[in-house]
Amino acid sequence: MQHVILCLQISLLLSSFSYSMQAQYTSIFSFGDSYTDTGNKVILYGPAAADLWINKPPFGMTFFGHPAGRLSDGRLVIDFIAQALGLPLLPPSLAKDQSFKQGANFAVAGATALKTSTTRPALYPQLAVAGGAVPPPNNISLADELGWFDAMKPALCGSPQACKDYFTKALFVVGELGWNDYGVMVVGGKSVAEAQSYVPQIVATIVAATEKLINDGATAVVVSGISPMGCAPGNLVLLASQDPADYEPDTGCLKGMNELSRDHNAQLSQALTTLGGRYPGARVTYADLYGPVIAFAAAPTRFGFDSALRDCCGGGGGKYNFNLSAACGMPGVAACPNPSAYVNWDGVHLTEAAYHRVADGWLRGPYANPPILDTA
Ligand SMILES: *[C@@H]1O[C@H](CO)[C@@H](O)[C@H](O)[C@H]1NC(C)=O
Ligand SMILES: *[C@@H]1O[C@H](CO)[C@@H](O)[C@H](O)[C@H]1NC(C)=O
Repeated sequence: MQHVILCLQISLLLSSFSYSMQAQYTSIFSFGDSYTDTGNKVILYGPAAADLWINKPPFGMTFFGHPAGRLSDGRLVIDFIAQALGLPLLPPSLAKDQSFKQGANFAVAGATALKTSTTRPALYPQLAVAGGAVPPPNNISLADELGWFDAMKPALCGSPQACKDYFTKALFVVGELGWNDYGVMVVGGKSVAEAQSYVPQIVATIVAATEKLINDGATAVVVSGISPMGCAPGNLVLLASQDPADYEPDTGCLKGMNELSRDHNAQLSQALTTLGGRYPGARVTYADLYGPVIAFAAAPTRFGFDSALRDCCGGGGGKYNFNLSAACGMPGVAACPNPSAYVNWDGVHLTEAAYHRVADGWLRGPYANPPILDTA
């Protein structure tokens, strides 16, 4: 009997807890790149395109049972956040015939922080065509995503004041950005030091976007840092070095790319603290993507993973299983039978199991301060 009462009390506690969460945020608006995209890239590219590998099995195999516009085997961090807040999984902002009243996701796989029209032709000539332009759909940057957000406002709220009232009850998430800036520079042949010289400019762009959202009425903005780029199997293969000193002894990740990630994160979190100080009515939260992923790399089994540096879905074999010519989704490239035992899905992106752990760290701590679910 006592047991029954105790269970009843616990379930009451839990239900009032989740009710307060649902009451707090009525929508989510998010931005970012492939760590956050829930379908925009597939829409932009054309879902039927024969060479759109991210829209082929085994993408989506674990949760959706089919490709679902996400670069993973299942849900992303943003999906776990939506579920924890009692909201639907976020529709991609470019979806047709869709209500966005409970939120929209403007993220696009491949998106850069800096405008590609001004930076990418020079920094990543492989992507540009003659004349120096990067063709669509690979030319989307954070500025475009903000433009799509502005264009959606009339469908969400009628006047600037109505929008402010509406966005006060929304959670804004600026997902990971910067990988596609730094990564393309370095994989395209620039030195890590040269890529690192862009950190202040990239951080300033992300912080300016955050400030724009606050000026539009956002009172809760979570901004993600970057993951340890030196731990991605794709980078470990494409940027492989003969010199053991280029690798971190405790994780096996690439030192230089991880230093670049840490520099970006340190400058971003500091700038966000300064920004938050200037807007006392807004809650600006830095969310750490580096801490959890480096912890997985240092001790995968502590978190239930067999492997951190070898991806689940790829045709490379060996230590990292990454191969640009046999990438996840390409014909004949299979996934491992147990994605939840892996941190990395396809060489760059994480598995649903890893994203779930990251999301828990943002929702409940310790990887966001204050945690998203901390309403105090
Ligand atoms: C992307 O490329 C297309 C075609 O060249 C162009 O119309 C569009 O404006 C570009 N977008 C950006 C943001 O540069
Ligand atoms: C990479 O994929 C190509 C194409 O399938 C294959 O010929 C090659 O052997 C693969 N490389 C490795 C290291 O597995």
